[in-house]
Amino acid sequence: ANPTLLILAGDGIGPEVMDQVVRIIDWYGDKRDLAFDVEHDLVGGAAYDKHGTPLHDDTMAKALEADAVLLGAVGGPKYDDLDFSVKPERGLLRLRKEMDLFSNLRPAQCFDALADFSSLKKELVAGLDIMIVRELTSGVYFGEPRGIFEEGNERVGINTQRYTESEIDRVARSAFELARRRGNKVCSMEKANVMESGILWREVVQKVHDEDYPDVELSHMYADNGAMQLVRSPKQFDVIVTDNLFGDILSDCAAMLTGSLGMLPSASLGAPNANGHPKAMYEPVHGSAPDIAGQGKANPIACILSFAMALRYSFDQGDEATRLESAIEKVLADGARTADLMGPEGGTPISTTQMGDAILEALDAS
Ligand code: NAI
Ligand code: MG
Repeated sequence: ANPTLLILAGDGIGPEVMDQVVRIIDWYGDKRDLAFDVEHDLVGGAAYDKHGTPLHDDTMAKALEADAVLLGAVGGPKYDDLDFSVKPERGLLRLRKEMDLFSNLRPAQCFDALADFSSLKKELVAGLDIMIVRELTSGVYFGEPRGIFEEGNERVGINTQRYTESEIDRVARSAFELARRRGNKVCSMEKANVMESGILWREVVQKVHDEDYPDVELSHMYADNGAMQLVRSPKQFDVIVTDNLFGDILSDCAAMLTGSLGMLPSASLGAPNANGHPKAMYEPVHGSAPDIAGQGKANPIACILSFAMALRYSFDQGDEATRLESAIEKVLADGARTADLMGPEGGTPISTTQMGDAILEALDAS
């Protein structure tokens, strides 16, 4: 049987970039004899419009069964005033929680052709290859109590940062495992100077290291300093492991090292399924970009690179993932640019579909 992919394109530019991924999936079926059984379903605002919930139970069940889930993006101004329980983001959070995708891998890689385009000096980012491992299923986005409560004669908004030892332990392990396959270096980031959860985080990461990964070089850094160091000299890092909130912010910061949010893929991994592959969802880091949705301007590369990660981590097709990444590298080197990749010197951007065309052409030539 073919491996199964559940595609949840979502809202805004999600369906636009996912259309290009589908063309590439079809290409692999036609030209490389690598066919997937693809199923499409709704998530986020699109699911709310149809079912009154941002993730239908049937969709959740399909996601748990699929070999991998590909997600576009969710959200948009149309849904901003909805109750929190049915907000588009809620669909995404439910997928992450019920698939137990506790480890979010966000590579920040600098394609040579785009080194000039980075917000930083070229020499700081050329050849950059770092991986941010963000804890994804716990922390302040989930902790209780949460809510807006009356307190005296005013209201108070409360979220709770909460981490158990086992939650820290398993994400630390995934970071150390990853580091062994890369530069063998982990930097753990928290705020142990001001947060109890940070103190526990540092203690547990150190313990996991000392007991099971003494061969990996481990350092600890306060997350605010980490943000500064990421911009000052990003190449000092290999793998960064951090919590949900800091990881959200640090990975957006790392995004600008590589030029555009439109270039950044991610993978969210959980415990191995019956086939020995980690449960997995792949998605671009960017959101639904309502400011450019429906205009054919979106850069599909982040979503396409997310599929490349799926090839590598869920389907043991590392060579085919490299083929796809090389096709993207070639297209960029040839000067193809969507609007988000235009430098200050300007030029004529190509459309989402034209970027897809160019990548397919490069694949044909590979
Ligand atoms: P965003 O990532 O959607 O957009 C930020 C900026 O980057 C915008 O100017 C946008 O045009 C640009 N951009 C993003 N992706 C691009 C691409 N592929 N090509 C070209 N330009 C791109 O973040 P924002 O504006 O904060 O949020 C918009 C909506 O998306 C909100 O409803 C938010 O809740 C949701 N969101 C969803 C996420 C997800 O589905 N994982 C993640 C982040 C935000
Ligand atoms: Mg974010």
